Amino acid sequence: MAFPVRLVAVVAVLVSAGAGAEGYELGAAQQRAEAVLGRMTQAEKLSLVRGGLGAPWGGRPKPQGSVGSAGYVAGIPRLGIPALQETDAELGIANPGNIRPGDTATAMPSDLALASTWDLGIARRQGAAVGAEARAKGFNVLLGGAVNLIRDPRGGRDFEYFSEDPLLAGLMAGAAIDGVQSRHVLSTIKHFALNDQETDRVALDARIDRAAARESDLLAFEIGIEQGRPGAVMCAYNEVNGVYSCENDWLLDRVLKADWRYPGFVMSDWGAVHSTIRSAVAGLDQESGDELDTQNFFESLGRSVAEGKVPQTRLDDMARRILTSIFTHGLAEEVASDPADSASSEESALAIEREGAVLLKNEGLLPLPTNVRRLLVVGAHADRGVPSGGGSSQVVPRGGIAFSERVGRNRAMIFDPSSPLDAIRRQFPHALVDYDDGRFPGRAANAARWADAVILFADQWRTEGIDAPSLSLPGGQDTLMETVARANPHSVVVLETGGPVLMPWLDETAAVVEAWYPGQKGGEAIAEFLSGAVNPSGRLPLTFPRSEAQLPHPTIQGDPTGAPIGPVGRGGHYDRTFVAQYGEGAEVGYKWYFERGEQPLFPFGFGLSYTTFGLRSLSASADGARVTVRATVWNSGARAGVATPEFYVSGPAGANIPLRLAGWSRVDLAPGKERDVSASVDPRLLATFDEGARRWRIRGGDYRITAGFDVERREAATAVHLDGAELPP
Ligand code: BGC
Repeated sequence: MAFPVRLVAVVAVLVSAGAGAEGYELGAAQQRAEAVLGRMTQAEKLSLVRGGLGAPWGGRPKPQGSVGSAGYVAGIPRLGIPALQETDAELGIANPGNIRPGDTATAMPSDLALASTWDLGIARRQGAAVGAEARAKGFNVLLGGAVNLIRDPRGGRDFEYFSEDPLLAGLMAGAAIDGVQSRHVLSTIKHFALNDQETDRVALDARIDRAAARESDLLAFEIGIEQGRPGAVMCAYNEVNGVYSCENDWLLDRVLKADWRYPGFVMSDWGAVHSTIRSAVAGLDQESGDELDTQNFFESLGRSVAEGKVPQTRLDDMARRILTSIFTHGLAEEVASDPADSASSEESALAIEREGAVLLKNEGLLPLPTNVRRLLVVGAHADRGVPSGGGSSQVVPRGGIAFSERVGRNRAMIFDPSSPLDAIRRQFPHALVDYDDGRFPGRAANAARWADAVILFADQWRTEGIDAPSLSLPGGQDTLMETVARANPHSVVVLETGGPVLMPWLDETAAVVEAWYPGQKGGEAIAEFLSGAVNPSGRLPLTFPRSEAQLPHPTIQGDPTGAPIGPVGRGGHYDRTFVAQYGEGAEVGYKWYFERGEQPLFPFGFGLSYTTFGLRSLSASADGARVTVRATVWNSGARAGVATPEFYVSGPAGANIPLRLAGWSRVDLAPGKERDVSASVDPRLLATFDEGARRWRIRGGDYRITAGFDVERREAATAVHLDGAELPP
């Protein structure tokens, strides 16, 4: 089932419960896989389940035939099976360690920027652009679809993830995956599951109530898989309830393959396999980067099968699943794919940032009048470029790295070549635009006094392998923001961060924009935002706390100083394994705040516009377990803009559904115009999971439906009656 993209005025968020494998057009691919499997030797089956590094390693050059990337699986030419050329590509095609000398790619805005669009069409477009670039570079497997729920706003990889809400995360990731695969490139969805923090990620045992996991983290994966139909699922480094993800029978065999009827294959994260037998039996289908695991799947799997420790049927199932995905996604075909068009990829990057930047505060300062005379731009290397996040998703941007700043001993913060200062100068051709690097707050404040308005940039680096030590802006930037904003009240702060930050200076500034990591057209998009050439429409996909004390875990669990980066594969269990108790269960993000009556700094779903919107005539009707909500939304301001009414549901007494995002619409509205919008609610959002019975259960009663423009500003309410019902998992 293809997801209805943004075609018409009304966008319905529609997900069918438990669609599982039903939506896949698998028949022909499965038959072909079966036929090929029948012709395979045992050695060929074993070679298909063995993934190695696609890069030079330990003195050996990159494997022959490898394009040069994170992973490589040799092909079987006699059977027409192509090699799998696997690259990281969450935010564009990565080139770690310059394996492909000089190769660059479009650096997309972070997934938080993409998620802030709440626009499935643009997520699909991002995926298609990245997929086309991958295909043109010779890659056919993209290690993308990072859909882990953002449980902690300090997470090192939050910029690669989408949301704290499973519906928003699952739909957006699914749309991006669908876009990638529309270019005959197979995409993963990752990291399955509960790899929700980086601190000690390889030694962490994420403990959570199973039903709560099904209603939160796993629901994001379930929806992402239904919508995107990824060819592979990447299992994670961490343990879940005492068992490593890549040997976790409950996760792989029961939830993914039995309950969700997932027909693709499970590949390991790099260095995440600890035992061949345990992994093979639990449902791992392909080892990745086997040089990093002390137990080589390929070598020992053959032995284990011969000794009867792993059934032959399991090895056949692994090969069958990999073949099925290869055939389903056209990897074995010579596809006349469009040549990668860098101009259109960059257009996509620009479009995402235009829609994804979020206006958090505006006391009449923005848009800046185009006839403004003197502007001062301050800080965050805004004269050179825009920051990006680190780790395996790091892209070497087309046009080259603008600037890089060393972080610690061996890491670097990379700036994409899109100077906000230059773009602002172009947007305001009649203004004198000066720049101060912000190193000395007093000097910047003096310069600020002469400006009609000040544009203060602040950044914060995040990277895979390490969580942010706190939510505060690093490097004295809070002092800079405060000192300059006090000197000139016409100050706007533009945040380029990998997640929420605290804003002790908020009252001093007239406006705040969250631009995230804005990608390689970020400077242009930010300038358009400031001038009003673009009317802001982004909405927060996660809550901004007032302080870390509001979080379920005021301090990140684990040892932040001992956080290992990247893959390690020492085999067996780590001595240092520690338990991270996710006692908050499914109460992630805004649900946690709501239950406690806590007021965040900025709520989930929040975002301002240069116009204003109203909402009325909310109604809800039920057809069995399928609820449809309707409302009328109108533009009450003076300029055209995009309204995103959000629908929420709460269950009747005893249903244990305090508040959940149930759907949204996204409509362009001219001033004074109104539209009817509707959304169809996924029945799983009206249910709780019964792990014993492996069923979703809807409790009979009156469900409260609310609608508004963020989770706190719900301005209309209605109710709908549902009879009790059960749904398959
Ligand atoms: C990351 C994955 C990535 C893989 C290959 C791992 O360390 O967790 O997200 O796809 O490396 O680079």
